[in-house]
Amino acid sequence: MDIFRRVLQRYLPHIDQRLMELIPADDLPEGNVHRAMRYSVSAGGKRLRPFLTIMGGNVIGDCSPEALLDIGCAVELIHTYSLIHDDLPALDNDDLRRGKPTNHKVFGEAMAILAGDGLLNQAFQVLTRVALPPERLLEIIRIIADGAGTTGMIGGQVVDIESEGKRIGADLLRYMHEMKTGKLIRAAFLAGAVAAGASESERLQLDRYAYNIGLAFQIADDILDIEGDPIKLGKPIGSDQHNAKSTWPSLLGLEASRQTARALVEEAVGILETFKPSDSTAALQGLAQYVISRET
Ligand code: IPE
Ligand code: IPE
Ligand code: MG
Ligand code: MG
Ligand code: MG
Repeated sequence: MDIFRRVLQRYLPHIDQRLMELIPADDLPEGNVHRAMRYSVSAGGKRLRPFLTIMGGNVIGDCSPEALLDIGCAVELIHTYSLIHDDLPALDNDDLRRGKPTNHKVFGEAMAILAGDGLLNQAFQVLTRVALPPERLLEIIRIIADGAGTTGMIGGQVVDIESEGKRIGADLLRYMHEMKTGKLIRAAFLAGAVAAGASESERLQLDRYAYNIGLAFQIADDILDIEGDPIKLGKPIGSDQHNAKSTWPSLLGLEASRQTARALVEEAVGILETFKPSDSTAALQGLAQYVISRET
């Protein structure tokens, strides 16, 4: 097993267990919403964002593992909410996610909307309780809110929805990818680095790494929507074409998309060479490669 998978395996059980602890109980009058939240969070997912938070902290050095885990899990709660809402009939109208029927297929649209809202709020609730110096924690909360909000993921989703059925230019396409996927990935990583006390120059370097893998990640997602295996992916393929989405391959072609993603990943790997070699830097270099070679 390569170093990326080995290091990820080490953290996965902790991430999965902590995520379940962070969702409130089912045996309450409003318990159905918690059941819906738990359904999507426990359905699986690669957990790349919490992994990035933990690695961002580890690359810099000393930070309590509990703090990094909770920050990473908060980002994963937000990411899962974004997937529940992304799949709704009003957005991409998809039936399968993480290998299971989408949230609204099981719990209905109203509960799926509320479960997404619930996950978003729960994430910030969790963040306020992280044991870090208040100023540092505030900075982390600001980074995550910026990455998740209309200045980040939601903003990108707006451009995505408004670009349906249109032929947008390459600049707007890149912007949409940077926003809808890149910003939350960058926030996950940067939040970990800030938790561990990264300097301004370290932040800039690490943010360039995350920018590159975030963009490459969505290019790969668009390619997988064309030629992926829906069983392995756990979500349908052909969704983008069906919704007349503006995607990297639809605008630039598959080969040019692959080339762009490869160049981004190569640069990301190079950036980490400037950091002290460790299991974490090696795992992050492996993660960069995985982002474009993945089948899931
Ligand atoms: C899917 O994200 C949505 C995008 C932002 C491209 P992931 O591919 O990380 O989904 P999970 O978390 O593994 O299910
Ligand atoms: C990313 O775009 C969506 C989010 C920011 C949640 P997609 O709509 O392509 O994601 P998938 O392919 O449904 O996972
Ligand atoms: Mg979408
Ligand atoms: Mg979608
Ligand atoms: Mg997609």
